[in-house]
Amino acid sequence: MSEAVLRPMADADLPAVQRLEKELFPEDAWSEAMFLEELAGCPATRHYVVAQDPDGRLVGYAGLAAVAGQADVQTIGVGTARRRSGIGAALLTELLDEAARRGCEAVFLEVRADNAAAHRLYERFGFVRVGVRKRYYQPANVDAIVMRRELRRRPAAGFTRGNQ
Ligand SMILES: CC(C)(COP(=O)(O)OP(=O)(O)OC[C@H]1O[C@@H](n2cnc3c(N)ncnc32)[C@H](O)[C@@H]1OP(=O)(O)O)[C@@H](O)C(=O)NCCC(=O)NCCS
Repeated sequence: MSEAVLRPMADADLPAVQRLEKELFPEDAWSEAMFLEELAGCPATRHYVVAQDPDGRLVGYAGLAAVAGQADVQTIGVGTARRRSGIGAALLTELLDEAARRGCEAVFLEVRADNAAAHRLYERFGFVRVGVRKRYYQPANVDAIVMRRELRRRPAAGFTRGNQ
C-alpha cells in the first residue's frame, strides 16, 4: 500500500475527510454532520478508518456498519492523486477483517452502476451482484448495484478435517 498507514478515524480528521469527500463524491457528498453521526456509532455499530501518508496528509478513508450479524460498507474512497497504489484494497481488507472479527456472515454494499473502478475492486475481493436499486442515485438517475460478499465462518472449536 505504498507508504500510507491505516488508523481509526477521529473527529479531528473531519475537515480533511470533507475535502476528500467533496472531491470523490461531488454529486452526493456526505456532510460533516453525517460523518459525526457515523463516528458516534464507533465502536458499537461502526468502524471507520483513514489512510494517512507519512507527511500527515489524509489520502483515503472507509467505514463499515455492523448490526445484528450483517455488515455494510458505508463508504470508501481514495484521493485521485493516490489511486492505483493499493490503498483502496488495504481499506477494504480492513473493513472485511473487522466484519469477520465482529462475527458477521456477510458484507453488503451499494455501488453506482457506472463506477467501473469500484466494480473491479469489489469483484477482485469476491463480491457478487445480488440486486439492483433502479435510479437510486439522483439527480444523475443512475442505478445502484447491490453486492454481497460472504465471510468464511470460523470452524467450531475442536473441528478437525476428516478423510471422508
Ligand atoms: C474505488 C477506489 C476506492 C479504488 O481505490 P484505489 O486505491 O485506486 O484501489 P487499489 O489501488 O487498491 O486497487 C485495487 C484493485 O481495484 C481495481 N481497480 C481500482 N481502480 C481501478 C480502475 N480505475 N480501473 C480498473 N480497476 C481498478 C484493480 O483490480 C486494482 O488492482 P490492480 O491495481 O492490482 O489492478 C477509488 O477509485 C476511489 O476512491 N474512487 C472514488 C470513490 C468511489 O467510487 N468509491 C466507491 C464507492 S461504492
